[in-house]
Amino acid sequence: MSREARVQWFEDRYPIRGVRPARAWLQSDAPALDLSGSWRFRYSRRADLAEHFVAPGHDDTAWDTLPVPAHWQLHGYGAPAYTNVRYPFPVDPPFVPDDNPTGDYRRTFRLPVGFLAGSRAVLRFEGVDSALKVWVNGSAVGTSVGSRLPDEFDVTDLLADDRENVLAVRVHQWSSGSYLEDQDMWWLSGIFREVRLLSRPAGGLDDVFVHAGYSDGAGTLRIDTSVLARVLVPELGIDAATGTEIGVSHVEPWSAEVPRLYDAEVVTDVERVRLRVGFRAVAIVDGVFTVNGRPITLRGVNRHEFSPDRGRAVTRDEMLTDVLLMKRHNINAVRTSHYPPHPAFLDLCDEYGLWVLDECDLETHGFNVVDWRNNPSDDPLWAEALADRMRRTVERDKNHPSVILWSLGNESGTGKNLAAMAAWVRERDGSRPIHYEHDWSCPDVDVYSRMYASHTEVAAIATRSEEPLADAALDARRRGMPFVQCEYAHAMGNGPGGLVEYQELFESSPRCMGGFVWEWIDHGLRQRDPDGRERFAYGGDFSEPLHDGNFVADGLLFPDRTPSPSLHDFAAVIAQVRIEPDDGGVRISNRFDVRDLGGITVRWALEIDGLGIARGVLTVPTLGPGESALVPLPAEATRVPANSAGECWVTVTAELAHDEPWAPAGHVLSRGQVDLGARPRAEPVGGSGLTRVGPDVTFGAGTFDAASGRLLRVGAVELLGSPQLDLWRAPTDNDSGAASHWLVPTWRGLGFDRLQHRLVAVEVTDDALMVRERVAPAGTDIGFAVTFRWSGHGEALRLDVDVEPQRELPCPLPRLGLRLRLPRHLDRVEWFGRGPGEAYADTGYGTWVGRFRAGVDAMQTPYVHPQENGNRAGVRWATLTDAAGAGLRIEGVPTVDLTVRRWSTEQLDAARHTVELTDEGCLFVNLDVAQHGIGSASCGPGVLPGYELTAAAASFAVVLGELRAPAER
Ligand code: GAL
Repeated sequence: MSREARVQWFEDRYPIRGVRPARAWLQSDAPALDLSGSWRFRYSRRADLAEHFVAPGHDDTAWDTLPVPAHWQLHGYGAPAYTNVRYPFPVDPPFVPDDNPTGDYRRTFRLPVGFLAGSRAVLRFEGVDSALKVWVNGSAVGTSVGSRLPDEFDVTDLLADDRENVLAVRVHQWSSGSYLEDQDMWWLSGIFREVRLLSRPAGGLDDVFVHAGYSDGAGTLRIDTSVLARVLVPELGIDAATGTEIGVSHVEPWSAEVPRLYDAEVVTDVERVRLRVGFRAVAIVDGVFTVNGRPITLRGVNRHEFSPDRGRAVTRDEMLTDVLLMKRHNINAVRTSHYPPHPAFLDLCDEYGLWVLDECDLETHGFNVVDWRNNPSDDPLWAEALADRMRRTVERDKNHPSVILWSLGNESGTGKNLAAMAAWVRERDGSRPIHYEHDWSCPDVDVYSRMYASHTEVAAIATRSEEPLADAALDARRRGMPFVQCEYAHAMGNGPGGLVEYQELFESSPRCMGGFVWEWIDHGLRQRDPDGRERFAYGGDFSEPLHDGNFVADGLLFPDRTPSPSLHDFAAVIAQVRIEPDDGGVRISNRFDVRDLGGITVRWALEIDGLGIARGVLTVPTLGPGESALVPLPAEATRVPANSAGECWVTVTAELAHDEPWAPAGHVLSRGQVDLGARPRAEPVGGSGLTRVGPDVTFGAGTFDAASGRLLRVGAVELLGSPQLDLWRAPTDNDSGAASHWLVPTWRGLGFDRLQHRLVAVEVTDDALMVRERVAPAGTDIGFAVTFRWSGHGEALRLDVDVEPQRELPCPLPRLGLRLRLPRHLDRVEWFGRGPGEAYADTGYGTWVGRFRAGVDAMQTPYVHPQENGNRAGVRWATLTDAAGAGLRIEGVPTVDLTVRRWSTEQLDAARHTVELTDEGCLFVNLDVAQHGIGSASCGPGVLPGYELTAAAASFAVVLGELRAPAER
């Protein structure tokens, strides 16, 4: 007997039944019932449980409860799983495994009085991952897929207005839709956005489409609606019919910099919809992307919706925090990677001002693994499923002035279905250009987009001299397009480096629209480890058989939304107010696209060795966009008191003069420094020579073991580990990245992580202690000849180091410097150098020269996956002191890089989560002459040539001294 192959409804490629046509997300005065809250919930590992639960009388008292909105995996049902490209199920489209976690949801509700009077009742789901089937009072309502897109079902005829209504929903984790939702993120399921029951008055405003244009001070407005209505914009004196083209002779345009919105209403006898209209025009003019007639530069980030506790069920507070943090860090654009965000987020973008590239909920990247066989993007069987997603994106979000580009999706290969999506968008909303990155021949789009293109390639594209496409017509078309890097500068772990060089390229050519850093936030889920310690989990921490580890933690924010150093770097690199030393003063440039520098106060502060001497305000002309001026410093800013000694710096900051909706007055937009040079200090005269005490010898403050040459004490400060050559750093995610995949294995292969030290000679003379060592890893004959020359330096101790590699090495060095160990109570650090945060050769743009203080614990950067971090660069001097203020003083000659930790590099290297790092009972101090740069190789180019640490003979010096407690000084 032959049987029909079993196909379940959610394996249909287009399993959408009973769903109302997509429409705009609207603020209406029609009644609505919020159905969020606690629902009855039953979890099953399979999808084929009988559907008895939908009956109104079904006894669900034994069920659990689950909040809506939420993901069930974050409430103890099943587990989150992280994969980047690979599907966590067989590539067998459109089928999904029988083990298909399923959640049954039930809740009851009563209708408010009059809810149904003359109205339809529409059940609206803002987001359900990934497939849902809905029943009301036991009757089937419909089915849908499309996790980050809304679904509406008309349930009027199933509702009772005199008793409790029972809503039942079955949600499956896997569906045909999962093949279209292969974004690089956690797989998380359930009703994760709100559910509401909307009253839709007969003759109401089902859909509204705002067309608000702008040109040279004048605006145009046409609001299309499903029924005839009145359009009211009181501020502009508009009272007109929908569907009519209204000219407004004077209007202020909307932009991300000046997000001018006009309150409007669309009114019928039965419904009133509130809108916030922004007048603006997006156009590509001669291959340049413009808004309101001006080229704009996107200083953007890719934003996934993420909360360490709630996954993609983000709260309004989290959305607002994101927007405020973006605005406060000079970010002006968001790509909603890779799906439409919660609609409230776009309201915030309208209100606070962010350019938005709104992306369709589509990614089929996992077909890459099977050479794109059966890729839905090119398979007619999937055409409707893809078209539907695009329609739902555009219809929902079409009224947001912040949205300036539509994106077809991400990493879904190439194909006809993408072309059809683009054609539909063009027809429906010709006012916004179309974006899609994964088809480099750009047949369907209006902008040329790439991700992680190297600096060299971007330089070629910037000048329209990129490698040609084989097809001459496509090539000509693409060469005429503006260029955007929809992803670059992969912010995974420590880094990215290379930001400045990208920004320079973006600003070098009007073809470049800028780009979007990958990505906004680390997706680390808060979790208890097996020892009960709280940590941020990444791929593998839920025992997923297939996962991509910590590739999910690659944001400018840590999972708890504290900025990582990279956010400060990015803010400095993209700062719209640029302050650079120039000809005795500062050059102030306005890099805004629209606004002038009115409302910004520029202050100066003179410091000597980081101590404030004088401060004031600079008078700066009100520079228009793109303008710059040389502003001389006033005499007081450079007047250094006669008897002072040390480095003199003038720090100039641009600050908000008044409160803005996104930051208070005084918020620093950018900073620049003018180096006035150093006023000489009295150098210690000579050095105190040799003294012998038993087996020990003393130079200046240093006491040594004469036999081994080991430093034992500096004054009263005991050394737990004498300075040794150190070449190792705990590899960063970028060190281990794809573009430098050979680097860390080479480092480990050569044994930089397990150096051995052999004393060659100790020589004591009257004025110096010379210690010669050979430092080399086991199993090879490479090695370094190291000479330490210790000598008295006034009351302090000077160490001169010469390092010479004895063989040519096939790779750069991780670091070059000294490692020493100190007592653990010297954990208060103060330094004069770059700070307050970490900096490496190609990062740290958010730091400046000053005097900073931090405890050792605060000097650690808590990258989700432990790795090299916390380096303070350009340190002139530092003190490590105890509670009484006594301890060690370190001076660079002239500078040194400083790292202080409670654990060894070896422990940092071995740990998988930050919380695993344990205090080893002492402080590990690294004093480096240099470290290898950081780069962005975790996804993108490696360290640029100028930032590599090539192995070569090197000499450097430091001075160590004892610092007595103030009471004893
Ligand atoms: C891109 C992709 C992103 C993310 C990134 C690496 O290829 O579009 O979603 O996976 O790489 O983190």
